[in-house]
Amino acid sequence: MELEAIYTQLTADFIEQLKDQKVSAIVRESIRPYKELMKYYKCAMMEVETKFSVLSEELSMQYDRNPIESIRTRLKSPESIREKMVRRGYPLTVESIEENLNDIAGVRVICSFPSDIYALADSILKQDDIKLIQKKDYIKNPKPNGYRSLHLIIEIPIYLHDQKKLMKVEVQLRTISMDWWASLEHKIRYKKGLPNSGFIEKELIECAEMGEALDARMERLHNMASDLIEED
Ligand code: GTP
Ligand code: MG
Repeated sequence: MELEAIYTQLTADFIEQLKDQKVSAIVRESIRPYKELMKYYKCAMMEVETKFSVLSEELSMQYDRNPIESIRTRLKSPESIREKMVRRGYPLTVESIEENLNDIAGVRVICSFPSDIYALADSILKQDDIKLIQKKDYIKNPKPNGYRSLHLIIEIPIYLHDQKKLMKVEVQLRTISMDWWASLEHKIRYKKGLPNSGFIEKELIECAEMGEALDARMERLHNMASDLIEED
């Protein structure tokens, strides 16, 4: 290659590189508000998780047992956010995501007994920085497929270095048996190529009813045991 050709090639490469850097800088800048929003949701989720942990500590001192078996948190993935926004026909902007989705930050609280669910929900909703946006009681009114849990959409403030921001968090409260059913039902339902037989659906409803009966039975046993200890 002649010197001039080499020089031209190098210049072209250099210009391409510059373009690439510029494009990636633009991309970085444009996703920054989205990343910021996700950080806020993460903070709100941590706040809610801490509130439940504090309640659990306090209640376990008072009643000598921990009403919370475990707490799990999750941030909705970018793919799921995109899919839900498109499916519901909302514009794909950061403002629209914040306005229209209630379940970006999720906290799942697994409780020992059904009464713990209501006691914990009452306690958290009594706190004066928490606002209830929506409540769905799938325990009193299970979904037709048998799904049971108490769902709360709450709004909680997060304190940033220069501002206070109100964020929405979805809280799902369930017993171990409700959680066990929901996890396995999810796995069974999402099996690829499952024909609509009706049999599996009926079996799942029956399993959910068995779970409900077991929850009630275990709670009765727990109450009986507590009464016996008190009498002693
Ligand atoms: P989504 O669009 O899925 O968020 O539903 P929604 O806005 O109608 O809210 P809903 O409160 O009914 O359900 C929200 C969440 O509860 C889901 O994302 C699941 O985590 C859980 N859930 C609801 N129904 C079922 C169910 O039938 N089976 C299982 N396994 N989980 C469920
Ligand atoms: Mg959801």
